[in-house]
Amino acid sequence: MNAKSAIKTLEPHRKRLSDMPMRDLFVADSKRFSKFSLTLDDLSFDFSKNRIDADAFDALVELARNRQVEERRDAMFAGEHINTTEDRAVLHTALRNLSGDPVLVDGKNVMPEIRKVLSAMRKFSNDVRSGKYKVSGGKITDVVNVGIGGSDLGPAMVVRALSPYADGPQAHFVSNVDGADLADTLKGLNPKTTLFIIASKTFTTAETMANARSALAWIKKAVGVKKAGSHFAALSTNLEATRAFGISDDRTFGFWDWVGGRYSVWSAIGLSVMLAIGPARFRSFLEGAHIVDQHFCKAPLEKNIPVIMALLGIWYRNIWGFGTHAVLPYDNRLARFPAYLQQLDMESNGKHVDLAGKTVRTETGPVVWGEPGTNGQHAFYQLIHQGTDIIPCDFLVAAQPQEKLGNHHLMLVANCLAQSEALMTGKTLEEVTAELKKNGLDEAAIEHLAPHKVFEGNRPSNTFIYRKLTPKTLGMLIALYEHKVFVQGTIWDINSFDQWGVELGKVLAVEIQPFLSADKSPTKKDSSTKGLVKAFLSLRS
Ligand code: F6P
Repeated sequence: MNAKSAIKTLEPHRKRLSDMPMRDLFVADSKRFSKFSLTLDDLSFDFSKNRIDADAFDALVELARNRQVEERRDAMFAGEHINTTEDRAVLHTALRNLSGDPVLVDGKNVMPEIRKVLSAMRKFSNDVRSGKYKVSGGKITDVVNVGIGGSDLGPAMVVRALSPYADGPQAHFVSNVDGADLADTLKGLNPKTTLFIIASKTFTTAETMANARSALAWIKKAVGVKKAGSHFAALSTNLEATRAFGISDDRTFGFWDWVGGRYSVWSAIGLSVMLAIGPARFRSFLEGAHIVDQHFCKAPLEKNIPVIMALLGIWYRNIWGFGTHAVLPYDNRLARFPAYLQQLDMESNGKHVDLAGKTVRTETGPVVWGEPGTNGQHAFYQLIHQGTDIIPCDFLVAAQPQEKLGNHHLMLVANCLAQSEALMTGKTLEEVTAELKKNGLDEAAIEHLAPHKVFEGNRPSNTFIYRKLTPKTLGMLIALYEHKVFVQGTIWDINSFDQWGVELGKVLAVEIQPFLSADKSPTKKDSSTKGLVKAFLSLRS
């Protein structure tokens, strides 16, 4: 059965559940939470506040089975070339394979190479952190990761999330080719004690190379050409290019074409994380992901957290027609987690053709977005509660805070739980009317005000509660979302591991750039592009 027909089998369940709001389902079944929640290590996953009942859930699980999620998962872990348009294996899971088992790519066990790079990263990190590795001004005080997309979002998000564990040099991240990014970052840094890590899988990405060249110029100016090299390290699969840039091989940390950019934080791309939190905690981070990999491989589909996350996403995207998905961490240090997931999900599953190159007949990846609670509550939650779009949400919250600060954490958790409750239960017109009556409003005032205070409810959410935002927990969370994205791509029959959609804009930027410094009209362009170039040139002088 093709993706569309398989997904369509869910339709009767939507029809049935359309008349059964979740609040009624909760009243009817006191065991709903225990039926629709799971625990994995230190993490609990509640998916009971979704528009499902036992039959709908079974049908969703059946969909995963019919779409051969298990077979394709096994193919991925076995190193088959499931990234067909680039003819590559997909093995970010090997980077956190702590089992001792071999992982084969084209018949070759890649684990020894992975361990070799990890051990080189460990040695370098220990040397930098201890001060054994010295640059012109002595011990490194600041590390600037220069990269973009997967070579930035992962480490930047993780370093921020794990800041309570950071005891190494101060980490900074420069990604945007907008000179403001580099300039603002370098302000206040001492070039003599700064290390730049040029992170680029291809080592050709225009923005990263521009920032790397400007960083090199800044260092050379301060320490001279001869000493500049020691202020640079590289993370890349392209050794020729790192050498051409002048970074010596002993400060170049490699990875492989079977690690996708947005799946690369576990690889050498995580060096800035390791420098910040140290090798032992970096290992815990890998351990967390490994726990999830094992769960993904071994748990039956109906108890498999990433599979369930994926199925619920399909349910809402394809059957209920909900086009966006919000990720709402009640954990301020996860502020960049939604942005990280945007790349992971939208670059992976924002596809319009299937594996055979045929136009897909179902919607694929949703728009993923979010901000930390409680800030979001005072900004966009109005629309989530009462807007005309239904937005499935993921709430994330830790049981233990990093800071013991009065009752802040209890307030935070209470808000998180209150939001998912409010979204689910809503508030009926009768309830609003009774409340207003109780508050002494007359009938006219009630009639005027009541509709505005109604919450239709029945708005779905998942909630993750974890013990504490540790390196291990963060590793788990990221891996859960990675596998969710994979399962959805499998069900939609698309390639989640290429990203051709980013290429056209890159090519056109190269074409347009010469027109921005020459007073020559781009004759072959559309009138809007020509007009914008003209406006730019006139405003420039
Ligand atoms: O343009 C998209 C992209 O290729 C991402 O997939 C990738 O994470 C990012 O650019 C950076 O690529 P690189 O690591 O090769 O510089």
